Amino acid sequence: MNQYYSIGGGRRLEGTVTISGAKNAAVAIIPAAILAGEPCVLENLPEIADVVSLKNIMSRLGAKVDMTAGGCMRIDPTTIDTFDVTFPEVSSMRASYYLLGAMLGTYGEVELALPGGCVIGARPIDQHIKGMRALGANVYMDESRNVIRAQATKLKGAEIFFDVVSVGATINVMLAACRAEGQTVLQNVAKEPHVVDVANFLNMMGARIKGAGTDVIRIQGRKKLHGCAYSIIPDQIETGTYMIAAAATRGDVVIKNVIPPHMEAITAKLMESGAQVIEGDDGRDFFIRVSMRERPRAVSLKTMVYPGFPTDLQQPMMAYLCTAQGTSVITENIFENRFNHVKELRKLGASISLSKRVAKVRGVETLRGNILHATDLRAGAALIVAGLSAGGTTDVYGIEYIDRGYEFLEQKLTAIGAEIHRVGD
Ligand code: UD1
Repeated sequence: MNQYYSIGGGRRLEGTVTISGAKNAAVAIIPAAILAGEPCVLENLPEIADVVSLKNIMSRLGAKVDMTAGGCMRIDPTTIDTFDVTFPEVSSMRASYYLLGAMLGTYGEVELALPGGCVIGARPIDQHIKGMRALGANVYMDESRNVIRAQATKLKGAEIFFDVVSVGATINVMLAACRAEGQTVLQNVAKEPHVVDVANFLNMMGARIKGAGTDVIRIQGRKKLHGCAYSIIPDQIETGTYMIAAAATRGDVVIKNVIPPHMEAITAKLMESGAQVIEGDDGRDFFIRVSMRERPRAVSLKTMVYPGFPTDLQQPMMAYLCTAQGTSVITENIFENRFNHVKELRKLGASISLSKRVAKVRGVETLRGNILHATDLRAGAALIVAGLSAGGTTDVYGIEYIDRGYEFLEQKLTAIGAEIHRVGD
């Protein structure tokens, strides 16, 4: 694929944009529907490449999956007829690891190709495996085939203390534990909004999960769950990307269909940099309005697990801070190699020095357009933010990464005044 985004930068973003369903909730909730053992209807799914890939994976397993425009998907898992999840599409996306917990919990057996996804660090899955083993599963890594096999005659509830706070491991073990016998207590868990959303979905299917959103999750396993209809929360990272893009272009944007408390870390940093951020309720939706007139002040930040500043917005935020007054210090605590965007930002004239997990961004007055290459999803978002704020034309290649996580990006940006075109076939 040789498509790229061509951006005519330097235009203020102004207007209203509506946020889509959360990618990271959607990619867990689609596999989680297997646990229902009956049809489920999901609403507010974003039409992004990762959702399409999961839909194809589910169909290939034998599930009946229909997706209609407007982000509605009906999943009937009753026709799944294989535990073999090793075909190539699986290893091309990170979130396919949720099939481990969903299939192990439902069938007691699964063979899964090891997950791929964005190359932003080592991204091990040892905590997922530790959790499944604690529930009584036999888990083998077949490294020659890059496949993981898990099997359990009966899953049994357990107390599990995670060594690192992991979104993926928290959700994956929660999925399997829903159908285990007895109580599971998960400690040192992730508290991200999409962890809570997945727990809410599972509870709608009849699961008994308490404590999602806190450090400890308790799950009473159930023999059987049931189908339900569920609407996915708005995307915290997409919201943050538009908030940052509004400030970066010295714009004034109302961002609708958001959950303001999910955005507090971003709101705080944007306000510290001089942006105006107002939260409100128009009677139909919660919204956040971000406006900015001047050059931002430098701010420093450290990425942390929720409710700290999310690693997924570190890259777009850095793009914004490239033109701040003063030096911003950005520390990436979650992934050790999440600075692939730095060399691309430098091509626009940004002044950034790197030392291990710390980037020092010395603000320059303006960025100048150039040809850039996205290397992962959120690096791509950063390059879009940079291109929108830079003078002249910026071409961003690697948009297949961006397609994985941003629904209707060019349409949404065009509607708020950006000049952005998808070029090539
Ligand atoms: C999820 C998100 C991703 C986000 C990340 C951190 C999805 C599909 N992706 O990724 O967008 O950037 O959370 O908020 O939801 N770790 C281990 N062992 C494990 C698992 C993780 O050491 O078994 C480490 C990782 O290397 C990383 C940290 O824990 O340093 C956090 O990773 P994790 O929260 O698991 O991220 P993902 O679930 O991969």
